[in-house]
Amino acid sequence: MTAETETILVTGAAGQIGSELVPALRAIFGQEKVIATDLVQPKTENLRLGPFEQLDVTQRSQLEAIIKKYRIKKIYHLAAILSATGENNPQKAWEVNINGLFNVLEAARQLDVKQVFCPSSIAVFGPLTPRVNTPQDTILSPTTMYGVTKVAGEHLADYYVKKFNLDVRGCRFPGIISHEALPGGGTTDYAVAIFYEAVIYKRYTCFLRPETRLPMMYMPDCLKSIINLMEADFSRLKHHSNFNVTAMSFSAAELAAEIKKHLPDFEITYQPDFRQAIADSWPESIDDSAAREEWGWQPDYDLTRMTSDMFRVLQEKKARGNLFYPG
Ligand code: NAD
Ligand code: SER
Repeated sequence: MTAETETILVTGAAGQIGSELVPALRAIFGQEKVIATDLVQPKTENLRLGPFEQLDVTQRSQLEAIIKKYRIKKIYHLAAILSATGENNPQKAWEVNINGLFNVLEAARQLDVKQVFCPSSIAVFGPLTPRVNTPQDTILSPTTMYGVTKVAGEHLADYYVKKFNLDVRGCRFPGIISHEALPGGGTTDYAVAIFYEAVIYKRYTCFLRPETRLPMMYMPDCLKSIINLMEADFSRLKHHSNFNVTAMSFSAAELAAEIKKHLPDFEITYQPDFRQAIADSWPESIDDSAAREEWGWQPDYDLTRMTSDMFRVLQEKKARGNLFYPG
């Protein structure tokens, strides 16, 4: 591979997924080959180990300047406004998620970028969609602005595949659980906050009801899905920007019970807020057989393994005095 073909741009790199995807890509492609960008400065140390540029994806000229400067050949487009923040500011969610994506696709088309990854979400589904084992190809009826932008984004990305032969790929991620950067304003964020608060305070007040069941995935599986999908043989793909992927499904009460196995005196209370309605509109579990068939998707972490690993890492951080949590 030449230096030119290797150069990669990551937008929204300071977020929950970018904070771990950038180091993973740098480990594969080289520290200097992965250009991390975000509206805000990165909070995690490891993002500063390679090139970082401030970039607002709604500003096409800024984006184009960075693509030209580094002769970018692949873009991982992670910049977005997530579900809960998006319901509080739907105009901004549209601006970033739709205009930002359009800018990325147009810039990629015009500036000879070869491949784009743009994540979608379980938020594309809605109350009219089958909620259990939700099929790959089914009714998309979102009730959130975030979901509306993700449905439109999937269609826009697939249009660029068909119309312009641009290689665009994406997964419909479930809630992502991780311990590096905190999530940025989603409905599934409780499944991360619960671990931090269990380790720090031994109690947690959950903003969803105990029986609320959602599909989830641990960050190592999320990174694996992104890397494997981007490496897959394009000719084998029947879908492009909308692969269902999942690893586990659990209710808030089941997650609390799993945490109690590690911390018997952990206490949970429930105070549902506006995010309950969002969660109630999403699937309990999703069928990812298309991803398994078309590019060999296979997760490694279930609820038990993920919980053990989250506890191990957060306890170690606490012992070292570097468990930072604003809550
Ligand atoms: P995040 O909120 O943690 O990070 C998003 C980043 O985008 C932030 O660092 C933010 O500063 C940046 N950003 C916002 N507006 C911007 C702009 N105008 N220009 C440039 N950067 C901007 O989100 P994440 O969890 O890392 O999600 C990444 C992608 O994965 C998003 O498309 C999201 O919809 C999708 N996704 C995430 C999850 C999840 O549970 N984390 C689940 C499904 C889909
Ligand atoms: N984790 C995301 C959210 O809750 C799902 O896309 O917004």
